[in-house]
Amino acid sequence: MNQEQEEILKLKEEKNAIILAHNYQTQEIQEIADFLGDSLELCIKASQIEEADLVIFCGVDFMAETAAILNPSKKIVIPDTQAECPMAHMLPAEEVRKYKKRYPQAEVVLYVNTLAEAKAEADILCTSANAVQVVESLESDQVLFGPDMNLASFVEKRTDKEIIPIPELGYCYVHKMFNTADVTFSRENYADAEVLVHPECDAEVQEMADHILSTGGMIRHLALSENKSFLIGTEVDMVTRLRRENPDKLIYPLLDEAICENMKLHTLEKVKTSLIEEKFQVKVPEEIANKARVAVERMLEVSK
Ligand code: 13P
Ligand code: SF4
Repeated sequence: MNQEQEEILKLKEEKNAIILAHNYQTQEIQEIADFLGDSLELCIKASQIEEADLVIFCGVDFMAETAAILNPSKKIVIPDTQAECPMAHMLPAEEVRKYKKRYPQAEVVLYVNTLAEAKAEADILCTSANAVQVVESLESDQVLFGPDMNLASFVEKRTDKEIIPIPELGYCYVHKMFNTADVTFSRENYADAEVLVHPECDAEVQEMADHILSTGGMIRHLALSENKSFLIGTEVDMVTRLRRENPDKLIYPLLDEAICENMKLHTLEKVKTSLIEEKFQVKVPEEIANKARVAVERMLEVSK
């Protein structure tokens, strides 16, 4: 631990605070987090926080909002308010309402990577860890699914239901960076490595992988796998976490440039300031939060 990390740990104790962080945070933030996880694990954790007075959330906007929706009595603070997920902003609530009018029979499944106002329009949410399970739990055979078109196509291949992506071309700019040539090149250089990619990668990239997994799924997979080497097709700091937890394995990024700049806006300095000033509290208007909570809790029920 460096001096700044030590100071944060001390402040955290004084303030009775906890730090939740997504797997894409830098190593120095991963090291000071009380809980590190994928979107689903962070939702579950956020719904269970009782003991802390203050929660510092190191993730992007939709994740911190989900924590605030699930635990409205807690003070949730985000170190940098500019840490937004561009994909979540590709599906405004108004757009969801338009699709609902056009497809009145369809049920609406929204990826947790959406803003609170859009979540309030959903029947149920999903994450990359439970998307197929969530869709299969529905009664309707027609499903509006957004905003990630690649996760939509991943689900479509694993269900008999009709999946209508909303918007038509929602994507994550980080996972869009991977292409089939990266997989071919890496497989040539690391012939024994298993290739794991995230379902936000393009369909052609998914088809070339050995496994398509959420970030939490990748962690569980490595813990159980007999394999020695792995190529990881998601944000580069996922490799950081996997290496820390699997020192006996060889773990390589499929693409060094796959960096979510938005996640990286959180720094130790900003975490420290958040603990001192408690300034950027994440607030979701009550009416929206109440509606969105129904969709999030329905997902958590299905994922049990
Ligand atoms: P996970 O739920 O797999 O952690 O994914 C979240 C995300 O933002 C992926 O880009
Ligand atoms: Fe959003 Fe993509 Fe960053 Fe995940 S990696 S937070 S989907 S921009």
